[in-house]
Amino acid sequence: MVKICCIGAGYVGGPTMAVIAVKCPAIEVVVVDISKPRIDAWNSDKLPIYEPGLDEVVKACRGKNLFFSTDVEKHVAEADIIFVSVNTPTKTRGLGAGKAADLTYWESAARMIADVSKSDKIVVEKSTVPVKTAEAIEKILTHNSKGINYQILSNPEFLAEGTAIEDLFKPDRVLIGGRETPEGRKAVQALKEVYAHWVPEENIITTNLWSAELSKLAAIGKDSRIGPKFLNASVGFGGSCFQKDILNLVYICECNGLPEVANYWKQVIKINDYQKSRFVNRVVSSMFNTVSGKKVAILGFAFKKDTGDTRETPAIDVCKGLLGDKAHVSIYDPEVTEDQIQRDLAMNKFDWDHPMHLQPASPSAIKQVSVVWDAYEATKGAHAVCILTEWNQFKELDYQKIFDNMQKPAFIFDGRNVVDAEKLRGIGFIVYSIGKPLDAWLKDMPAIA
Ligand code: NAI
Repeated sequence: MVKICCIGAGYVGGPTMAVIAVKCPAIEVVVVDISKPRIDAWNSDKLPIYEPGLDEVVKACRGKNLFFSTDVEKHVAEADIIFVSVNTPTKTRGLGAGKAADLTYWESAARMIADVSKSDKIVVEKSTVPVKTAEAIEKILTHNSKGINYQILSNPEFLAEGTAIEDLFKPDRVLIGGRETPEGRKAVQALKEVYAHWVPEENIITTNLWSAELSKLAAIGKDSRIGPKFLNASVGFGGSCFQKDILNLVYICECNGLPEVANYWKQVIKINDYQKSRFVNRVVSSMFNTVSGKKVAILGFAFKKDTGDTRETPAIDVCKGLLGDKAHVSIYDPEVTEDQIQRDLAMNKFDWDHPMHLQPASPSAIKQVSVVWDAYEATKGAHAVCILTEWNQFKELDYQKIFDNMQKPAFIFDGRNVVDAEKLRGIGFIVYSIGKPLDAWLKDMPAIA
């Protein structure tokens, strides 16, 4: 029986391994993590991440050929194929800070593999990493090899949160890069055989190591999961990957003497940041240039619908902007916990991608923030509603009831183009929809931005 071990039980490691296990009953898959709360949650009825369809897949194979464990070393030692799916946040200090990927977690995983391995291993780079990381990892492993043969493969992940299970069941493509040597080709073939259980052969693309690494970053414009499914007019894009991958690209361009190209990509991030502050300015300027002491309801906190992930969500910047202007914010999101929201609003930018156990203990709750479990509760007595995530349920709300319970004039700032603006105007709301013509009211207000 082939044994797979995946280091990192996060948004990528968990769903990817669950799908491999369900599609390959003859393969034993163990997902390991240093975070005990995360592993405990994977072994419980309330999984640590929300993804449509994930519960069913995990239930179908957990305890049969899918296991979650904190015994990292034991399972790494026993595995034939090791996926490394640890977090690779943007560096916060030192060389390349704010742009380059921080490979601390990756490197420590690689050193641990070298320490505990007693048999030959295929090590699969699943995390998004700078081009040529595989070569660096190969050096760490081979210099500490004790006679063991390691084959490094690059198998970048293209899943999108919110549709992870669907994407994994029917990937546009699976990309596998390896060394162009007989052993390298054998390793590529071994991984290909795993995916071939459910992915058509023509969708499994094999190439060399660095081409696979580069394709993850350079696929930005070509990937159907990015285009219209992700880049719609909105309060700004978020998520753990897109910004980080662009910053990686900036760093590569700078290191290769292409400052103009680097600047081009930097502008994408700048415009996205501008879009968030512009939204806050719109809210404040429309409400007579002050939100001080006013209740503003926030509908949606996750970075997009169908996920509870809040990393780099524009909601953090918007809430911080409103809090800076002394608003009281009342937040409702169907999948994000109060603890997570308080943590996000207390945190500095860039701290979010470090594992929970390395984050500060629960910060003291911010007084002006309340988190409620119902959209009607959030909007009761509010002066304004900001829609920051495109959850389908926000389309179905009883807006007449919401209007009746709000302060007047009642504003809706729709950061995701979710609501039918004309219908809401009919009820009496003053509506701002991203990228759409302004209400007469809003046109008359002195715009800050
Ligand atoms: P995550 O932060 O949800 O999960 C990473 C996990 O690795 C954490 O639970 C952490 O405790 C664990 N970990 C870190 N060091 C470890 C070690 N030495 N031993 C055992 N466990 C360790 O991260 P996520 O979102 O799953 O991302 C993983 C990688 O996949 C990143 O490089 C990311 O850029 C990439 N990626 C993420 C996508 C997404 O949609 N989230 C999509 C495609 C790629």
